[in-house]
Amino acid sequence: MASSMSINVLFSFIVLFSASCAVSYTIQDQFYQCITLHSDRSIPFSTAFFTPTSNATSFDSVLNSTALNLRCLEPPRQKPLLIFTALIESDVQAAVMCAKELKIQLRVRSGGHDYEGISFTSALGRSVPFILLDFAKLRAIKVDIEDNSAWVQAGATIGEVFYRISEKSKIHGYPAGLCTSLGIGGHITGGAYGPMMRKYGLGADNVVDARIVDASGRVLDRALMGEDLFWAIRGGGGGSFGIILAWKLRLVPVPSTVTVFTVPKTLETGATKLLNKWQHVAHKIDEDLFIRVVITTANSTEGKKTVQTAYQALFLGRTDRLLEVMNHSFPELGLTRKDCVEMSWIQSVIYIAGFPSNTKPEFLLRGKSLFPAVYFKAKSDFLYVPVPETGLVGMWKKFLQEDSPIMIWNPYGGMMGKISESSIPFPHRKGVICMIQYLTPWTEGDMKTADKHISWIREFYEYMGTFASKFPREAYVNYRDLDLGMNKNANPTFLEASVWGKKYFKNNYDRLVVVKCKVDPDNFFWHEQSLPILPFKFGQDGKSLIH
Ligand SMILES: Cc1cc2nc3c(=O)[nH]c(=O)nc-3n(C[C@H](O)[C@H](O)[C@H](O)COP(=O)(O)OP(=O)(O)OC[C@H]3O[C@@H](n4cnc5c(N)ncnc54)[C@H](O)[C@@H]3O)c2cc1C
Ligand SMILES: *[C@@H]1O[C@H](CO)[C@@H](O)[C@H](O)[C@H]1NC(C)=O
Ligand SMILES: *[C@@H]1O[C@H](CO)[C@@H](O)[C@H](O)[C@H]1NC(C)=O
Ligand SMILES: *[C@@H]1O[C@H](CO)[C@@H](O)[C@H](O)[C@H]1NC(C)=O
Ligand SMILES: *[C@@H]1O[C@H](CO)[C@@H](O)[C@H](O)[C@H]1NC(C)=O
Repeated sequence: MASSMSINVLFSFIVLFSASCAVSYTIQDQFYQCITLHSDRSIPFSTAFFTPTSNATSFDSVLNSTALNLRCLEPPRQKPLLIFTALIESDVQAAVMCAKELKIQLRVRSGGHDYEGISFTSALGRSVPFILLDFAKLRAIKVDIEDNSAWVQAGATIGEVFYRISEKSKIHGYPAGLCTSLGIGGHITGGAYGPMMRKYGLGADNVVDARIVDASGRVLDRALMGEDLFWAIRGGGGGSFGIILAWKLRLVPVPSTVTVFTVPKTLETGATKLLNKWQHVAHKIDEDLFIRVVITTANSTEGKKTVQTAYQALFLGRTDRLLEVMNHSFPELGLTRKDCVEMSWIQSVIYIAGFPSNTKPEFLLRGKSLFPAVYFKAKSDFLYVPVPETGLVGMWKKFLQEDSPIMIWNPYGGMMGKISESSIPFPHRKGVICMIQYLTPWTEGDMKTADKHISWIREFYEYMGTFASKFPREAYVNYRDLDLGMNKNANPTFLEASVWGKKYFKNNYDRLVVVKCKVDPDNFFWHEQSLPILPFKFGQDGKSLIH
C-alpha cells in the first residue's frame, strides 16, 4: 500500500502538472483525479463527490444532512468547494494526501453537531477555501462483550453505539452524551460527558485505543502514535492532530434495571430555593445518581411567563434505594415513588434524550435527534462556588427577557473529581459543582434576528461572569464558542491561541501545543480554533528545543 501510494503521488503530480498546462482544471477536478489515482478502485464521481456546480440540490442536501446549527449554513459562512464522502478507510488517507498536494484545507465532519459548525463551513470568509471530508458512511460498530470493549468508526452516532452494546448485553453500557445523534468522531475528541459521568467519568476517560490518519497520511494506532498523541486526541478538541478513523471504547457495567425521573418546579413552586439547595448537594450525592437541571421559560398557571426548572435524573439502581438516597441527601425535591420509572439502561438513554416513552431502541439506528435543526448560539461555564440566591433572582430576570432560552446545569463530583486534571486534556475536574450550558434557539434565518439573540446571550454570559470560574473562565471545548477568540490566519501565535486554549484546557494547553508541533509541524490540521504550532522545531526526543 505504502509504496504504491508514493508512486501514485508522483504520478498524480505529473498528471496534474501537465494538466494544468493544457486546460485549467478546477480544484474540484484535480482533487477528484488525485483521489482516483490514490485509490485501488474506481469511484464514480456522483457516488461520493458533491460540488455546488455538479448538482446544487444534492450538494445542499448532503451539506445540510447533519448540519445541526442552521446559523452556520448562512452567509457570511463559506461552504466547502467539494464534499467527499469517504466510503472506506483508505479514502481518508487519500483525502489527506491529495489536500496536501493541492495545498487546500481539509475539514472533517463526523456527526455535524459542532456548535459553531466549523466541521462543515468556515467562519473566515472566502480567503480559506476548503474541502469537506464526510464520515457519514464510515459508521461500523463491533462490540466485543468478552473483551469488554467496542471498536467504533468515527461516523457512527452515540445512539447507534448504545444500541449495539445493548443488543449484545443488558448489563454493559458506555458513558457518553445525552443527545443520541452526536457523532462519536467529534464527541470524544472534546471529552464527552453524559448521565454516567459521576460514576465512570467521560467518554474520553474510557477510550483504550484509536486509529487515526496523521498529517502524512499514515494510519496509526495507540502503539504506533505513542502516548503523547494518544493523550492529546482524548479531549484536546477535534481537527488539530489528525483524523480519527475509529475509537476503541471500554464498556462499563450498568444494572439491568435503572431508574429515571423528571420533577419540574417553577418560580411559583419554589424553584429558586431548590436550585440553591441543588448546588450544595448534586455534586456530593451518591455516585449512582445524576440529577441535571433543565431550565426553560414556561407559562405559569396564571398564564404569566415564568421560569421552569426540570430536575431530570438517571439512577443506576432501583427505586427503593433511590428514595433512600433522596430522603437522606435531597429531601427538598420531594421525590415520590410515583415520580420514579424503572427501565433498562437502553430505555433510559431514550428517556434522557427526550423521545416519547414508547420509542423502541431500534429508533436509535436512525441517527435522529430530538433537537431539531435550528439556528442557535450557545456558551458554557463552570461553577466552583454556588450562585447565591440573590444572584439566581437576578439571573431569572435576565432569562425571562429572551424568547426561548435554555440553560442546562450538569452536576459534577464523584468520579469526575477523582480523575486528575492532566490525565487527559479535559481539565474541569476537582471542585467543580456543575457545568452550565446556555443556549438560545430561533427559527428565522435573517441577520437581524440572529444579532438580537446573540446579543442577549452575550449579555447573559457577562452577568454570569460574577459567579463562574475565573482566571481562566473555563469553557467546554465541545461547546465550541468563537466569541472566545479564533485563529485569524494560518499561523496564530501561542499567545493568541492561549486566550481560548487556556479556557478549554487550562494548563494542559501547553502540552497540547507541544504535541501539535511534533505531529503536525506544517499545521495541516487547521481551523478557527485549532491549536497553534511554535515557530521552532523539536528535537528527536520531542523535548529539547532546537532554535
Ligand atoms: C444537540 C446537542 C447535544 C449535545 N449534547 C452533548 C452531551 O450530552 N455531552 C457532550 O459531551 N457534548 C454534547 N454536545 C456537544 C458535542 O459533544 C460536540 O458538538 C461534538 O463535537 C459533536 O461531535 P460530532 O462528530 O457530532 O460533530 P462534528 O461537527 O462532526 O465535529 C466536531 C469537531 O470535531 C472535529 N471532527 C469531527 N470528526 C472528526 C474526526 N473523525 N477526526 C478528527 N476530528 C473530527 C470537527 O472538525 C469539529 O472540529 C451536544 C451538541 C449538540 C448539538
Ligand atoms: C441532482 O440530485 C438530485 C438528488 O440527489 C436528483 O434527484 C437530480 O436528478 C439530480 N439532478 C441532475 C441534473 O443530475
Ligand atoms: C439547506 O439548508 C439551507 C439553509 O437552511 C436551506 O436554505 C436549503 O434550502 C437547504 N437545502 C436542502 C436541499 O435541504
Ligand atoms: C405560553 O402561552 C402563549 C400564549 O398563550 C403561547 O403562545 C406560548 O407558546 C406559551 N409558551 C409556552 C412555553 O408554553
Ligand atoms: C426519611 O428519613 C427519615 C429520617 O431521616 C425517616 O423518618 C423517614 O421514614 C424516611 N422516609 C422515607 C420515605 O424513607
